[in-house]
Amino acid sequence: MSATGTVTRSPFGRTRRGEPVERWELRLPSGASAHVLTRGAALHRVVVPDAAGTLGDVVVALPDVASYEAAEGYPGAVVGRVANRIGDGRFSVDGVEHRVPVNDGPNALHGGAEGFDQRVWAAQEVTGGEGPAVRLVLVSPDGDMGFPGELTAQVTYTLAEGDGEVRLRVDYRATTTAPTPVNLTNHAYLNLDGPGTVEEHVLRLAASRYVPVDERLIPTGELREVEGTPFDFRSPTRLGERLREPDEQLLRALGYDHCLVLDGAGTGERDVAELTGPRSGRRLRVRTDAPGVQLYTGNFLDGAWRTREGRPVRQGDALCLETQLLPDAVNRPGFTGGGLGEAVLRPGEEFTTATTFAFGA
Ligand code: BGC
Repeated sequence: MSATGTVTRSPFGRTRRGEPVERWELRLPSGASAHVLTRGAALHRVVVPDAAGTLGDVVVALPDVASYEAAEGYPGAVVGRVANRIGDGRFSVDGVEHRVPVNDGPNALHGGAEGFDQRVWAAQEVTGGEGPAVRLVLVSPDGDMGFPGELTAQVTYTLAEGDGEVRLRVDYRATTTAPTPVNLTNHAYLNLDGPGTVEEHVLRLAASRYVPVDERLIPTGELREVEGTPFDFRSPTRLGERLREPDEQLLRALGYDHCLVLDGAGTGERDVAELTGPRSGRRLRVRTDAPGVQLYTGNFLDGAWRTREGRPVRQGDALCLETQLLPDAVNRPGFTGGGLGEAVLRPGEEFTTATTFAFGA
């Protein structure tokens, strides 16, 4: 019980290996809530008011553990040890080459075939914060999915409200026993309007550069100015407006699936994005200290998922704003330092990052 809300834990079924999965509900006095699953430290539901005050889900929620296990695409999960792609599944740390299993053509994606999204995390309530909160902890052993060092990862979700907004803050921490790349983010699929396409959503992103990719969706190494490209969201722009332009980058990824370099990287937490859903009147502000955000318009969603309500989820029905270090940073000296952060975490150091999703109307 928190002074400004409640935390309730309940069973949510079992994984195919028989591990029990719990759902933790963080609930505010207004009725707004966030539901977190211990499998994948996943955001299962985020229920916030629309412009008329009606509560509704703004992330894609699947009905049960089996659906999450069957779903490709990491719905709601915390992805790691290294979010996004590592080209050819290889990298070097201090001159030692490491190979990690590939699971996306020639790339390692989101920590590999059995990444953090598939693990059952240990959860406990956190009190004394701004509102109801749950902390999830995962110990990833030395050699887990090919990565060096035992990594202890921690993710805390805190819900709070005030000033007409419901704020969901996600704090990430990690420590390691040997140098290892780390990049943690949340992979929730957002649709502020509930069902239907997100093409009518209007997005603003404080990002002057983005990361172009090759045919494998691996960075070319360039950090390209967004000026004059469909990646310029510096003024609020309807997502669908340029989605079907004959732009080589958009065609390659079947839409937006690119990391944008957020302005002010290295200056701490700042407002980086604003998204509005025209039908619901909901508005989301994203605040983070991360240097980048992967904008993914659900290009590979093919109707295989069914939501809690039984709706198929198809291409463009949701989008992800995955705040993170730049993709493949461990292989790209130009993608680290100078405010962009470090790709490799070392013993004695702590990886920390935080992102707040503030929902208003
Ligand atoms: C990646 C996409 C991928 C999706 C689900 C995103 O973060 O950028 O390419 O298809 O995750 O796997």
